[in-house]
Amino acid sequence: MSILIKNGNIITATDNYVADIFIEGETIKAIGKDLNVVADEIINAAGMLVMPGGIDPHVHLDMPFMGTYSSDSYEIGTRAALYGGTTTVIDFILQKQGNSLQSALQEWQNRSNNNCVGDYSFHMAVTDFNDDTKKEIKHFIEEEGITSFKTFMAYKGALMIDDRQMIGLMEEVKKHGGLINVHATNGDMIDYLVAKHKAEGKLSPLYHYLSQPEITEAEASERFVDMASYTGCPGYIVHLTCEGALNAVRNATRRNQKIFVETCIQYLIIDASLYKREDGAKWVMSPPLREKKDQQTLWAGINQGLVQVVATDHCPFMWEQKLMGKDDFSKIPNGHPAIENRMELLFSEGVNKGKITLNKFVEVSSTNAAKIFGMFPKKGTIAVGSDADIILFNPNETHTLSAKNHHMNVDYSGYEGWEVKGKVKTVLLRGKVAIDNNECKINKGFGKFVKRNKVSQNI
Ligand code: URP
Ligand code: ZN
Ligand code: ZN
Repeated sequence: MSILIKNGNIITATDNYVADIFIEGETIKAIGKDLNVVADEIINAAGMLVMPGGIDPHVHLDMPFMGTYSSDSYEIGTRAALYGGTTTVIDFILQKQGNSLQSALQEWQNRSNNNCVGDYSFHMAVTDFNDDTKKEIKHFIEEEGITSFKTFMAYKGALMIDDRQMIGLMEEVKKHGGLINVHATNGDMIDYLVAKHKAEGKLSPLYHYLSQPEITEAEASERFVDMASYTGCPGYIVHLTCEGALNAVRNATRRNQKIFVETCIQYLIIDASLYKREDGAKWVMSPPLREKKDQQTLWAGINQGLVQVVATDHCPFMWEQKLMGKDDFSKIPNGHPAIENRMELLFSEGVNKGKITLNKFVEVSSTNAAKIFGMFPKKGTIAVGSDADIILFNPNETHTLSAKNHHMNVDYSGYEGWEVKGKVKTVLLRGKVAIDNNECKINKGFGKFVKRNKVSQNI
């Protein structure tokens, strides 16, 4: 099967030009002006932006968490991602404390195998680093193609590891060419503040926010970059939200450290005032939404190259699930749905409002994640030899986000009624039309697990 995409305005992290793309099978075979080739199908892309499929390296599908499961299955979540222009996601496996990493991988494979519509990979979350876990790291990097290891400095009593474990893990991961991801907030401080607010009878969603002040994130981010500097291990801070935390990274760059930063779309465009609303639980996530001044810092951080990735931390829960915490904010499952909305919101709020360039849009929504997580140039760009993961995007079409028309398995939208300018029209995944005219053309099982390279090969 071959496809010719004609006359699109091709945007990569570095280029912007009008040309044709010839795809044969799963990969891009040629790019050029007026290509003289015969194709089974021709797509006219005149007037469209033709960009690499999005990569969202931070999603939680069908994940056991806080006494329930995130509400998107692998099928529904990866399909919703495709509707929104994201062709590859990286999900998180959670080790159960006391159990092996391998048994967690098995459990996650049981839920995801043959169920994904879009392409996917895994980070391995290490919640219990010990002599046995240590022996498994090399195998994950070299055999499983899982080269990034997630750590939590928070969620005390559930997922959190201490600094001793962190340093041990960093040394092992560094030795084998991997990367440490971190949820960098101070779990002990948060635990203290949650208990204090509860003892004072302060139980509404607002106190979720007030239990995780900026300092809890700034402190942990600084501690993490110090430990990464000491061990020499590359680090990636997930869902960074605020000025204080970004300043810790700014300092790390003066030591020429390999520290990468992800923020998420929500931290760029919505703020903590939402926690005062009756339905504030919809936005209960960790870290919480912050202030307007933090949004400005994050946009600036993107342009300064300090923030390399805009992800989602997509972790959807039905309203019924959110109600588990109706009388106690600490029982509200943490997370919000955005897998489908990330690219369009980033384009609309970022490119259309002049905050970032088109090239930067591609860089932070796709290319950088591919590089940092060992998938480049197979994923994350439009180039000869790359997977034909391509979106056709109409920069001028306006539409309104709503739970009434989204494809995520969640009965509300964090962005209900939000006017967006820019729409994903057609999506190709490995040379196959996956989305066209608001219809999904591929089925579960099409999505492939992406084995990733050693991080040290790319960055
Ligand atoms: O609120 C969040 N972020 N839920 C998902 C788990 C995590 O911390 O990433
Ligand atoms: Zn987290
Ligand atoms: Zn997360």
